[in-house]
Amino acid sequence: MNVYDAIMTRRSTRRFQTKAVPDEMLVKLIQAGRFAPSGGNSQSTHFFVITDPDFLAELADLVQQAFSKMEVTEGMYASLVSSITRSKKGGYVFHYNCPALIVTANQKDYGNNIADCACALENMMILGNEMDLGTCWINQLKWLNEDPALLEKFRSCGLKENERIYGALAVGFAASENGMPERMPLERKGNEVTLI
Ligand SMILES: Cc1cc2nc3c(=O)[nH]c(=O)nc-3n(C[C@H](O)[C@H](O)[C@H](O)COP(=O)(O)O)c2cc1C
Repeated sequence: MNVYDAIMTRRSTRRFQTKAVPDEMLVKLIQAGRFAPSGGNSQSTHFFVITDPDFLAELADLVQQAFSKMEVTEGMYASLVSSITRSKKGGYVFHYNCPALIVTANQKDYGNNIADCACALENMMILGNEMDLGTCWINQLKWLNEDPALLEKFRSCGLKENERIYGALAVGFAASENGMPERMPLERKGNEVTLI
């Protein structure tokens, strides 16, 4: 698959097989993230590669607990409303039980923190598609990036004092009939283009 095809057929995967992602595939993905451009070549994105099922389960619990304490407010972003509502009901697993979750953190006082993480995540999503891996951007840890319990959890594994989480990527083999990620592009109705 060439780069254009990998971009044009990339879709989000939200149902994963339990099968682990081989280490060599994860290493390639992480390298693609690490080789993304960064503002001023700062290279300050910190990647956490989580494959430990117990850790993933603990994260899901902490995220559900944090959202359960939040209230839905008027005009709130629909996906955030959904996370809160589903957490209050119980059984909410923000990472879709993916076998690998790649979390990107960066310095909280650096102006390109989100942009740099986004470049890294997009590189990994496109390469993931080329490698027949399903991926999905996961935003919940960014919304909760000041939550004390989650901060403590990540600090215990190396998140630095001045770092916060700005994005994450669920990675795994798609639980589809043929094991491949969905590749039918969604119609583009937005993303306006103006020629000058
Ligand atoms: C910044 C950003 C945040 C997103 N957050 C989530 C998320 O938390 N959970 C999720 O399931 N999908 C998330 N997505 C995936 C979008 O829902 C998805 O890209 C969009 O619906 C288009 O579908 P496609 O990726 O299959 O083309 C996010 C995507 C982006 C770019």
